[in-house]
Amino acid sequence: MNLGGRTALVTGASGGLGHAIARALAQRGARLVLTARRVEVLDALAAETGGRALACDLNDRAALLPLVEEAGPVDVLVANAANPASGRIESFTVEDIDRALDVNLRAPMVLARLMCDGMAERGGGQIVFISSLSGKAGTVGASLYAATKFGLRGFAQGLREDLRPRGVGVSTIFPGFIRDAGMFHDAGAKLPGYVGTKQPEDVADAVVSAIENNRAETDVAPIGLRFGATVAMLAPELAANVQRRLGADKVASDMAAGQQDKRR
Ligand SMILES: NC(=O)c1ccc[n+]([C@@H]2O[C@H](COP(=O)([O-])OP(=O)(O)OC[C@H]3O[C@@H](n4cnc5c(N)ncnc54)[C@H](OP(=O)(O)O)[C@@H]3O)[C@@H](O)[C@H]2O)c1
Repeated sequence: MNLGGRTALVTGASGGLGHAIARALAQRGARLVLTARRVEVLDALAAETGGRALACDLNDRAALLPLVEEAGPVDVLVANAANPASGRIESFTVEDIDRALDVNLRAPMVLARLMCDGMAERGGGQIVFISSLSGKAGTVGASLYAATKFGLRGFAQGLREDLRPRGVGVSTIFPGFIRDAGMFHDAGAKLPGYVGTKQPEDVADAVVSAIENNRAETDVAPIGLRFGATVAMLAPELAANVQRRLGADKVASDMAAGQQDKRR
């Protein structure tokens, strides 16, 4: 798909990766509909990119259909919003679990459902899910987050085949640790020196390339992390052992502490 003149709805546009994705899509000539809860942040980004800001709380199930109706015809959905949902399961209330599932998994599924018919009727479209390497490897202190991100992967793989005959492409992006902006950066956790990071712009480039080339899956992480995620898919017990020895627990607990304010 050529993005010029197409309308793209980006969820989580007020966040670190959302900003980079919105700017990259705008540079390609897309018309943007930007959504999140913090409308003052969205307004500034909308002014910068020539887009439209629509406030929406993805925890509010009744707000999803009105969001789609207000957005109007959309050619590209980038389901990027997420609750970091970091921490050990004992630290979550049942309401916290529901919130993470709603924002990270249910809302992307419902938005895809509500938008795919219109995309197909208008001759095609693209649905992009922002997952995480946590959607390929479950790690200590990230069970709930991983459940939502694994869920996105399975949904996207099936959806891609369902929608292929109707001309709607489906892509999933799997970022590792992203520096400079976003939920990992904001948490202030330090990684061991051998763990590499990528930038928000790398994720944005992967989103653009996924849309333009209808790519199924793209990892955005240095080779070492991508290799680790592949090992975790093939030999999860081995990967868990290695992570334990490398001190994954400390990074996970620092991240959970730094992301407490984003659980709501
Ligand atoms: N940063 C990383 O290292 C990294 C790594 C792997 C994957 N990812 C994924 O990348 C995506 C973007 O994350 P980020 O790093 O940009 O995080 P972020 O800066 O914390 O942004 C999260 C976005 O989600 C929105 N959001 C959260 N709860 C919401 C709700 N109830 N209703 C509507 N919007 C809500 C936030 O907007 P409001 O608060 O304004 O509502 C914000 O725009 C996420 O899917 C994340 O899982 C990030």
